[in-house]
Amino acid sequence: MIALGNVSSTKSTISVAKLENGQTAVLNVEGVDVLLCRVSDRYYAISNRCSHANQPLTEGKLRGFAISCPLHGARFDVRDGKCMGGPAIRSIQTFHVIQRGGEIIVSTSQS
Ligand code: FES
Repeated sequence: MIALGNVSSTKSTISVAKLENGQTAVLNVEGVDVLLCRVSDRYYAISNRCSHANQPLTEGKLRGFAISCPLHGARFDVRDGKCMGGPAIRSIQTFHVIQRGGEIIVSTSQS
């Protein structure tokens, strides 16, 4: 996990070079806690809050497209936020990601 700090916009732009495959990065985009995930050279942005007990997914393990919650082990698909395993039952929010050249743009204004 890489902490990228606060971004005072509904959009956040980071360099592709900052994230390796299988890594995650925390973004705070205008108060929204976002976890950016890189899987097979594609990027996915999800809420950094587990839908079970609102805990951060920051230290969760990313295996393939599944990220697991470090507290009780719920799993979520980073592509669509769907819950893949309990104890959570609700999906988590996803955010729009655009890769433009060497930059990744995350927007919290739409999902
Ligand atoms: S807080 Fe994530 S599974 Fe319980």
